[in-house]
Amino acid sequence: RILVLDFGSEYTQLIARKVRSAGVYCEVHPFDLDEAAIRAFNAKGIILSCDPDAEPLVADPQPVAAAYQLDVPLLSVGYEHPGLPAVARRIGAYDDSNTPALVENFVLQDCACQGLWTPANIIEDAIAKVRAQVGERQVLLGLSGGVDSSVVAALLHRAIGDQLTCVFVDHGLMRLHEGDQVMRMFAENMGVKVIRVDAEQRFLDLLKGVNDPEEKRKIIGRTFIEVFDEESAKLEGIDFLAQGTIYPDIIESVAIKHGKARVIKSHHNVGGLPEDMKFELVEPLKELFKDEVRKLGVELGLPREMVYRHPFPGPGLGVRILGEIRKEYADLLRQADHIFIEELRAAGWYDKTSQAFAVFVPVRSVGVVNDQRRYAWVISLRAVETIDFMTARWAHLPYELIEKVSTRIITELEGISRVVYDVSSKPPATIEWE
Ligand code: XMP
Repeated sequence: RILVLDFGSEYTQLIARKVRSAGVYCEVHPFDLDEAAIRAFNAKGIILSCDPDAEPLVADPQPVAAAYQLDVPLLSVGYEHPGLPAVARRIGAYDDSNTPALVENFVLQDCACQGLWTPANIIEDAIAKVRAQVGERQVLLGLSGGVDSSVVAALLHRAIGDQLTCVFVDHGLMRLHEGDQVMRMFAENMGVKVIRVDAEQRFLDLLKGVNDPEEKRKIIGRTFIEVFDEESAKLEGIDFLAQGTIYPDIIESVAIKHGKARVIKSHHNVGGLPEDMKFELVEPLKELFKDEVRKLGVELGLPREMVYRHPFPGPGLGVRILGEIRKEYADLLRQADHIFIEELRAAGWYDKTSQAFAVFVPVRSVGVVNDQRRYAWVISLRAVETIDFMTARWAHLPYELIEKVSTRIITELEGISRVVYDVSSKPPATIEWE
């Protein structure tokens, strides 16, 4: 295994992912990890990931002195460390065209690691760990239909079968047929025990008259937990709660800690956990990056289309209906969104965009249908390209594609009279409209 010490570079996770994709396990730790921990890690090699402009962070090289003293190869990216030992290799700055190959060479040749970190091995390992942790006892999982919880469900089902119970809270703000698809895939096809809670009306009632986006997020997040808690209280003999925590959720980021990372907007995520939890946690993905989770999903037999789906925010369509949420709006938006995604896939553009969706704009605009003026709602189409979702460029979709989507939405959905395409990049515009 390889130890990656983060000196505040924004490329640290990228470097760690390159090590992993060479088939070698690695962990990211802050540059000031203490000496005993560095030794105990027992690395076959150490990578120092530095930001060329972040010298103040490394003004005191003491913490890494231990790394220098270990008799293992060192690779420094982005900074020339004082007194680097002869075993070190150095790369100027991170460069996507040559760094991956250098990293791979470093771990496989200089450090003589074997590329054993493969999806099949990871699954086998995870299954053994889960079985050892859980034994004969029962596990509960909140299944959302998103990639992480879906992969956890598939993995745990394989590891412990019927000892797993999933609770799927349908808040009524999901995409078209999404709830049914989740049930078909897990309950019907795989035989996973899934309890579906249809809570649409409860969410709609609580959201009635609420316009403020942050308030909407809070209500959705809070209610989600309430419903989940109520449902889990009905179950008996559960000792564990499984979660789809992934590695980026727990890496302590030096760049963020030192205020260097570009954090534009924070989110309230649906499915956060109450503080007074009485369960022990099972987190089989907590060592994995998102791309690894996806590969695991495919290896576990989940459909590629589902595993590589664009991200969908926890509050769902709740933040894509501007202002007050009404069922009528959600139903129209679901259908418009479905048409957009269907055409995007048909044109081969789905995988070329990082996120694409429709937004419901509650403004009445005029159209003329059968010689009659008809005032109806507006749909905005949004498609972006991005690597990290911190910055994004609006996708330059072909006009013909936008035209086809627009024509279909206006002719197939009576409640929509106008379709617009969002040409705002982030920053300053965010990806979502709220
Ligand atoms: P923004 O709109 O901040 O979105 O540019 C960046 C990414 O985050 C997603 N997003 C959310 N995800 N809860 C979530 O789970 C939220 O409240 C939320 N708001 C935005 C957004 O879809 C995009 O992928």
